[in-house]
Amino acid sequence: MSLIALHVLVALASLVVSTQALSSHETTITQSLNTLHAQDAKIFYHGRWDFQQGTWWAGSGLKLHANNMQSLDLHLGAHTTSPVASLGVSVNYGPYITVNVSSGSNSIPLGNDADASVVRIVTEGWQNNRIQLESLTTNHDARLQTYVPSQVRLQIIGDSLSAVRIGLLSGQYLPQGVVQAWPFLTAESLKAELNVNAQPGAALKDIPAWGNVHGVSYEFFRTEDTGYYYTTDHNFTTPWDFAKDDPPPTHIMIHIGANDASQNVTSSDFEQTYLNFVSRLRTIYHTQPIFVFTPISLSTWGWPAADGSISYYYTDSYPKIVQERRTLGDKNVFLVNTTGWIRWEDVFPDNIHPTVSGHQRVAGFFEDWLKGWGLTPEVSWPTHA
Ligand SMILES: *[C@@H]1O[C@H](CO)[C@@H](O)[C@H](O)[C@H]1NC(C)=O
Ligand SMILES: *[C@@H]1O[C@H](CO)[C@@H](O)[C@H](O)[C@H]1NC(C)=O
Ligand SMILES: *[C@@H]1O[C@H](CO)[C@@H](O)[C@H](O)[C@H]1NC(C)=O
Ligand SMILES: *[C@@H]1O[C@H](CO)[C@@H](O)[C@H](O)[C@H]1NC(C)=O
Repeated sequence: MSLIALHVLVALASLVVSTQALSSHETTITQSLNTLHAQDAKIFYHGRWDFQQGTWWAGSGLKLHANNMQSLDLHLGAHTTSPVASLGVSVNYGPYITVNVSSGSNSIPLGNDADASVVRIVTEGWQNNRIQLESLTTNHDARLQTYVPSQVRLQIIGDSLSAVRIGLLSGQYLPQGVVQAWPFLTAESLKAELNVNAQPGAALKDIPAWGNVHGVSYEFFRTEDTGYYYTTDHNFTTPWDFAKDDPPPTHIMIHIGANDASQNVTSSDFEQTYLNFVSRLRTIYHTQPIFVFTPISLSTWGWPAADGSISYYYTDSYPKIVQERRTLGDKNVFLVNTTGWIRWEDVFPDNIHPTVSGHQRVAGFFEDWLKGWGLTPEVSWPTHA
């Protein structure tokens, strides 16, 4: 036997030995994993989760805080979107990376710097966004701690201009969905919690629009997004228990109207619908500032079209709604005038939804606006990585 052949043989033999060592090591770990059931109080949930511990609405998710976490597996039930649901996973406040998961066990990559202290997981898609959490497991010696949420907690409510397929809030058409949309970027820069209830194509008024069987003025008070109608295993809605938004949001942002306009809802009808909606929100959010966004637009109130024309809607309605609330004595409602936040070069010309950098531009404008209003970014997250 030649020297080289001998070397190969020795190398192969040691490979066999190390593989055996590895598998017995793995068995040991499997036997002593640390299991958290979905109801465990150490899991910090946000967004909308149903009674079967399943998510609805883009951006719903969970956060974990632990010492010495080196592995994490999610065990998902049959109500998880098939074949996959896309999750955004951020470790120690690093960038979100996409991990596709399915029902069964899913290993969540925690990156290379072994000790994952804070893990944040959100559903990325405006559709195909259901995960049903049964339990999660970590290495046996990980010590789960309580995640302490930020002092600033944003709630965004809205639509997207689905007539022209713009995923303005929910990140429709962005490679990573909601985590690249401007509300998410703003929340990250403020070091804030975020709940997103944005339904592409939906009107505010409770009418069918672009495949949505209900408007946001109805669906916001339900657990499920309007995708429920297209699912066979959960074709119904349940009331949302707002006590589950714990702690409650501190700032409410509303960006809506495009799909009411496209369904020919009149200005006065839209204004009344909006005012009724804000009155109802006030029964939940008694004191929080409410930000009424004008349509994020190329020019005043408008949205650019490929032929260079701009569509306008409800030109006078948004300032009127804010004024009407103030007349009623509600001084904590503010108009966010978004004129000029989006330019032609910030949208994809074929379907004119904002590009990744377009969303970054909008987030930058809103962060500046908030600074002027009096909200500056938190210095650090209360749960340190
Ligand atoms: C996740 O799944 C989607 C849809 O099937 C696919 O387009 C995407 O490339 C996948 N991403 C990753 C990171 O696997
Ligand atoms: C959901 O139920 C409605 C009737 O309430 C029905 O029209 C619709 O087709 C159902 N969706 C699915 C996916 O079965
Ligand atoms: C809205 O009005 C326009 C112009 O009259 C019409 O073409 C369109 O079909 C209407 N849309 C709906 C949803 O009623
Ligand atoms: C919004 O801003 C634009 C541009 O600065 C201005 O022309 C418009 O009057 C403003 N609208 C309101 C209601 O303040």
